[in-house]
Amino acid sequence: MAQTERLAADAAGVERATEILRSGGLVAFPTETVYGLGADATNAEAVAGIYAAKERPSFNPLIAHVDSLDAALAQGEFDDTAMRLAKAFWPGPLTLVVPVAKTGTISDLARAGLDSVGLRVPAHLLAHALLAHVGRPVAAPSANRSGRISPTEADHVLGDLEGRIGAVLDGGPALVGVESTIIACLGGPPRLLRPGGVPREAIDAMLGQALDSVADETGNPLAPGMLESHYAPRARVRLGVSEIASGEAALLFGQDAPRGVEAARVALNLSESGDLVEAAARLFSYLRQLDASGADAIAVGPIPNAGLGEAINDRLTRAAADR
Ligand code: TXA
Ligand code: MG
Repeated sequence: MAQTERLAADAAGVERATEILRSGGLVAFPTETVYGLGADATNAEAVAGIYAAKERPSFNPLIAHVDSLDAALAQGEFDDTAMRLAKAFWPGPLTLVVPVAKTGTISDLARAGLDSVGLRVPAHLLAHALLAHVGRPVAAPSANRSGRISPTEADHVLGDLEGRIGAVLDGGPALVGVESTIIACLGGPPRLLRPGGVPREAIDAMLGQALDSVADETGNPLAPGMLESHYAPRARVRLGVSEIASGEAALLFGQDAPRGVEAARVALNLSESGDLVEAAARLFSYLRQLDASGADAIAVGPIPNAGLGEAINDRLTRAAADR
């Protein structure tokens, strides 16, 4: 890829960053917590680019950043508690995980196929200006390569991602330095998924009750299964198949179809040209379509384990193990 542009914290910088994001490119931008690696959350191929740039070996649901509560309400269903939390702590280092709204436009890949969505309105002037200009939710994990520490300066971002992303919007150091607090409001009591920039005490005081935790202080789940963490189809999933049984739904990749594909109930090809970015962008919506066909099993042809193939195979392996 071409050199990464370093954009100044001014109107021209925001304009250029907006142009890149709206055309499906990647832009790192400052928030009050850490620098995020942003992509248009409504564009699954753009979101796939985040994983490619970070070399992240698995798809996790990403936080979608918006410029206002109104923009968030178009994406998620807010119950009373979510509404109170949003009004008390936005803009700020709080992410709310809520059910997807009917009007939602955030791609399956940004949600890792879940029916919920993580939303946040950051408290950073430059982030706000950018999100307002883009006019679409921006998916953004921290702007570091997988396994490295979260960046709080534009130079950290360039150290990790130079040449892999379109631009970094340089807004100086991020002030909070730890990531946002994540709370799930999915019906029932709100639950803390990740401790972060808004202290638990402040949340307890506002809610007038102690928040249930799903995570310990490092963000690791206390009780596995308390929160759905990845998409699982109803149908059984068979991986790396060389022969499809009659009536199965088939998920294919590239040109080498497994034997028996004519007898499949329905067959979808993640990428006929063998493009792993295209395949990642389609993965969750194709799984849903195949599951909706009513087949008992989804047979998946071999997918190379290079590049984004590793994250694709990781999700498929989890889906297969779930049954
Ligand atoms: O401060 C932050 O939150 C930074 C800045 C850039 O905003 N972003 C960040 O994103 O930390 P990331 O991708 O590292 O964290 C996303 C985490 C996921 O690992 C997951 O735990 C949670 O947010 N999350 C997002 N959507 C979710 C969902 N639908 N269900 C459960 N967890 C979700
Ligand atoms: Mg991170």
